[in-house]
Amino acid sequence: ALERTLSIIKPDGVAKNVVGAIINRFETAGLRVVGQKMMHLSKEKAEGFYAEHSERPFFGALVEFMTSGPIVVMVLEGEDAVRKNREIMGATNPQEAAAGTLRADYADTIDENAVHGSDAVESAAREIAYFFSDEEICPRTR
Ligand code: CMP
Repeated sequence: ALERTLSIIKPDGVAKNVVGAIINRFETAGLRVVGQKMMHLSKEKAEGFYAEHSERPFFGALVEFMTSGPIVVMVLEGEDAVRKNREIMGATNPQEAAAGTLRADYADTIDENAVHGSDAVESAAREIAYFFSDEEICPRTR
């Protein structure tokens, strides 16, 4: 089905200057960027985004990292977009990520793993609404 998913290029990806390289992977796979912005998350905004992880031992480090520098948030649209994005990203832990995936190529550790992608259509809708208003999403007409 035609889906939308949220993609984040994390502070390490921006710091490595691979924003264009990462977006190129999505475009090459047939996903379209229909919303995009760069931002520097506040502690509150990062905590809210990762609220489901608030009881996990890595939560503090995760929020610290995600607020350490600018990020790029994107809405990707396409056939099977949620699964496709996850396939392009590779496993959360870069040491387990398949060759040729974004995490294998650009991530250093499970904490600093270059990209985030929604894990399901339902979470995608929530995550997209967390960062984008309707007017900030620009469906492609051609
Ligand atoms: P992300 O998809 O952004 O969602 C939560 C993040 O927490 C995850 O990517 C990882 O970067 C980070 N993280 C750190 N430790 C773990 C862990 N043990 N399990 C899952 N995610 C972790």
